[in-house]
Amino acid sequence: MKVFFFLFLFLLCCTGSNSSHHSATVDGESNPKEDPLQTEVFANKEIEKKKPFKTIQKCATCHAQVRTLGEGRTFDVSGIYPQMDPKKFGEGKKIPVLIESLELNALKKMERGKDVQEKVCIDCHLPHQALVKDRIEIEDRKKNLGLWVTLELIDNIMDVEIKFKSYNSAHRVPAGLASRAYVIVVNVFQKEPLALWHGPKIAKALRTKERLAGLTMARFFVDGNGKLTNHLNLAHSLIDDTRLEHQRFLGEHFLYKIDPDKEVEAVARLYYLPAFPTWSGAFEVMVERAELEPQ
Ligand code: HEC
Ligand code: HEC
Repeated sequence: MKVFFFLFLFLLCCTGSNSSHHSATVDGESNPKEDPLQTEVFANKEIEKKKPFKTIQKCATCHAQVRTLGEGRTFDVSGIYPQMDPKKFGEGKKIPVLIESLELNALKKMERGKDVQEKVCIDCHLPHQALVKDRIEIEDRKKNLGLWVTLELIDNIMDVEIKFKSYNSAHRVPAGLASRAYVIVVNVFQKEPLALWHGPKIAKALRTKERLAGLTMARFFVDGNGKLTNHLNLAHSLIDDTRLEHQRFLGEHFLYKIDPDKEVEAVARLYYLPAFPTWSGAFEVMVERAELEPQ
């Protein structure tokens, strides 16, 4: 027997705002320290003088920024960015800091990039002053992102399918500095929370009892001990970039053993994390639910 609960989606729309105030902040470490990466990008005083930036070339002075890894350190460009030119990353010796311009150019060469052929950054964004204090508004993220929760009962196994899509970003999301991440946390209840039986878990560094099952969309930089870090000067390598590409669907299944005689509720919460791999400063962007009545 199949029952589908198909929940809402918002359609494409460009963002045009450059300030925001984040609402509800989830718990986690308080007092996030100054972002080490942000400080680095603004170190270039020459660029700061040219504010605000109006042309595509000027956007690329910062938004096509890579950084050389220490002696002998590399990452696997073709494994992580198969669609991008390895030369842009010094054949694996340079890691991405802020790369929307590189991503947009690479996308234009792909079949999937048809709809962005003529696009430049300022078609969708206002140019900003040298200092960016805030980021995209929640409402604008909601317009760009689709999140769906679908339930299917197979005997006593509940299959919770989560789908996620970026409609109109022209680059991967979340964009911005290396420490930005989206996390989808999945929880299933039969009054009480149920334990995940089979399916993906969020990045280990982020897991708590309530936030375990789910998906992490981020760049995974590791230090010399293989530990995740967002300090690029500690980075020895980039081991993955799971951020969502323009117009791509992400679909994953989470399985739970349930009591078919009781009502089931599945909840998927999308969080924006400014300081991955920590919850520091994280906020909820959207939440989707699906329910299934007893048979
Ligand atoms: C077709 C429209 C479009 C184009 C072109 C585009 N963007 Fe975006 N951009 C978006 C959308 C939509 C978002 C919000 C994505 C999300 O939902 O997280 C975004 C997000 C961002 C963010 C992250 C902000 C945040 O706080 O998450 C940055 C930085 C950014 N864009 C820079 C650029 C730059 C630089 C260019 C040019 C190389 C560019 N964008 C081109 C639509 C666009
Ligand atoms: C001096 C370097 C620099 C230049 C030049 C620059 N940016 Fe940025 N931009 C940044 C940094 C750093 C961030 C912060 C990213 C983050 O916090 O993740 C940012 C953030 C953004 C964001 C997300 C926050 C917001 O204000 O909405 C957008 C969109 C964006 N830039 C677009 C542009 C566009 C379009 C241009 C060219 C017209 C441009 N930027 C030129 C450094 C720059």
